Amino acid sequence: MARGYKYFEAIEKNAALLGVLTLVMVSLGGLSEITPIFVEAHSVAAPQGVKPYDALRLAGRDIYVRDGCYLCHSQMIRSLRAETQRYGAYSVASESVYDRPFQWGSKRTGPDLARVGGKYSDEWQRQHLIDPRRFVPESNMPPYPWLVDAKIDGATITERMRALRALGDPYTDADIAGAAKAVEGKTEMDAIVAYLQGLGVLNVAKAAEAPATSGAPASDNQSGAGGKR
Ligand code: HEC
Repeated sequence: MARGYKYFEAIEKNAALLGVLTLVMVSLGGLSEITPIFVEAHSVAAPQGVKPYDALRLAGRDIYVRDGCYLCHSQMIRSLRAETQRYGAYSVASESVYDRPFQWGSKRTGPDLARVGGKYSDEWQRQHLIDPRRFVPESNMPPYPWLVDAKIDGATITERMRALRALGDPYTDADIAGAAKAVEGKTEMDAIVAYLQGLGVLNVAKAAEAPATSGAPASDNQSGAGGKR
């Protein structure tokens, strides 16, 4: 007892030692929380129907990341009733297996976009990106008019698909060979609209959980997986 107290006192009176030992303990605690998540993340498999991004949508996703859309938009619907009623079925990890990096986020200056695909027409998406305040006068979303003129570089997309395949995404040789052709003449606007229109649409969980509401306008059903806003 007395011996133990001596060690204790030595640590408490030595700020550097106390600091180091505190750091060790906090690191151990952190590791025990983080390690299982890393292991689990690698075991999440793609559900049937969820495919890696095609060339155009992949280009769109890169623009989404480049232009910082994630700074105002999350892509994760929580399993709370208020969320599922507004945005649709809650998000599951397997939907994001091909998202590197994932776009879940928690900052919602604007609405969640996890299931925005098909909510508006392509033309609406274009015009909204060119001038958001034309549709929502009080919107603080910045305009992105340059997307209309900027062209997609096929060679870059081909390389990106190769890199993703190296990381495990199941692109076929044909997918990669056809990538440059698929984005030929396309603008960044085409790409980001294609990306947005695909969000949540290929999700099997949504189809399984809300069969009655697919395509229908917002409705308040008992499963809580009602239509979008
Ligand atoms: C400064 C914050 C901010 C940034 C950055 C931002 N947005 Fe928005 N966004 C908003 C707000 C606020 C709204 C809601 C009002 C509106 O529709 O304009 C919105 C609405 C939207 C909507 C309509 C969603 C719906 O369900 O009605 C889409 C789609 C969208 N944004 C896409 C984008 C994309 C793509 C980018 C990046 C190129 C982007 N936003 C960047 C704030 C932002």
